Amino acid sequence: MVVGSKLGALLAANPRIAWARANMALVGAVGATIGTALDGLRIGVSLHLEPKTAVLLRVLADAGADIVATGNLGTTQHDIVAALRDDGLDVFGSRSDDPRAHHANLERVIDSDPDLLLDNGADLYALVLDRGVPILGGTEETTSGAMRLRGELGAIDVPVIVINDSPLKAIVENKHAVGQSIVEGFLHVTNLMPQGRRFVVYGYGWCGRGIAHYARSVGGQVAIVEIDEIKALEAAVDGYRVLGADEAPEWGSVFITATGAEGVLAAADIEKMAEDSVLVNAGHFDREIDVPGLAEMAAAVEAEGPSIERYRLASGKSVVLLAEGRMFNLAADGARGNSIESMDLGFSLQALSLARVAVGGLDPGPQSVPDDINRQVAAAMVERMMS
Ligand SMILES: NC(=O)c1ccc[n+]([C@@H]2O[C@H](COP(=O)([O-])OP(=O)(O)OC[C@H]3O[C@@H](n4cnc5c(N)ncnc54)[C@H](O)[C@@H]3O)[C@@H](O)[C@H]2O)c1
Repeated sequence: MVVGSKLGALLAANPRIAWARANMALVGAVGATIGTALDGLRIGVSLHLEPKTAVLLRVLADAGADIVATGNLGTTQHDIVAALRDDGLDVFGSRSDDPRAHHANLERVIDSDPDLLLDNGADLYALVLDRGVPILGGTEETTSGAMRLRGELGAIDVPVIVINDSPLKAIVENKHAVGQSIVEGFLHVTNLMPQGRRFVVYGYGWCGRGIAHYARSVGGQVAIVEIDEIKALEAAVDGYRVLGADEAPEWGSVFITATGAEGVLAAADIEKMAEDSVLVNAGHFDREIDVPGLAEMAAAVEAEGPSIERYRLASGKSVVLLAEGRMFNLAADGARGNSIESMDLGFSLQALSLARVAVGGLDPGPQSVPDDINRQVAAAMVERMMS
């Protein structure tokens, strides 16, 4: 059942957007409850431009917001940009944008003088802080962006609601949906048999837990590398092998990073891996696997299918990198991202949080999704799942 605002005819003309909207009842209904909070405000957006995002942007525009949006590096889908533009939204960027072109897109968003930001990785906040651009505040989708906002970027003096801090998003999206889409994507792209294969998951946070769970559910053997002793203990009692970063390269055959940290798989680790080892990144930024270091060690790089590249190392060994080390469940060939319903939940949190920031009264700085919003969206999702 579709509740709340309907999709406009132009967006519905794109069948992938229409399918997403038909399964995003929560955000449709939430849009109708925002009232006038976003009326006349400009929202600067940097978010993966795919069908589910198109639904969110339409909902925000229907609530009266003026949208200026670009994508994230390497995941922008051309037909979605075209559909949103035809629908009258100011959206730009392409999948082939290099880091420089992407940065220019981010600058264009900031040059539009947004009142609020909806960011995914804190690149827009970095620009705003750098230039001293006044904003009311906004939302940040990811763990990686939250880490930057609480660390290297220094103090931000407006409220920023960190969507990833919501226990709902962590459970539904990071754990279950990322686990599902990363493992499904691996099977789809490689066409390999998972049974008995040795998966090493780096990070036993929300995403890592889900990836490990799904890899085991399709018959894989799974080991965890985790720097936090308590999470390492959790992995052990959940029944996984726990390995040190120094021993994992020799044990595994598929290596999946999900940490939010940089250089988790260093060139020296890759050198120790067995022939044909496969490297996958699930983290937000393409820096978890040291791809430049890998390229330096390589005598040759050969494409062996869409999103599959074999790096022939000078040592004589070869390893396989999927989707250039970018966020695999969105950047890989045929990738469709996380399940529609999980994004419906996350985007409902986004829309309600943006409206809360717009209304005012929050303390400055990065902060969690207000408890009442979490409970409202949790209740709506349970009701939908049980109906
Ligand atoms: N692919 C997707 O669709 C998707 C969705 C949500 C989040 N993410 C991204 O995935 C990453 C992880 O998110 P999360 O929600 O699981 O975060 P989290 O904070 O719950 O978990 C990260 C874990 O990694 C561990 N860790 C950090 N550095 C490590 C290292 N060098 N070696 C081993 N473990 C290490 C931490 O101790 C922590 O337990 C982030 O970059 C996030 O933005 C991706």
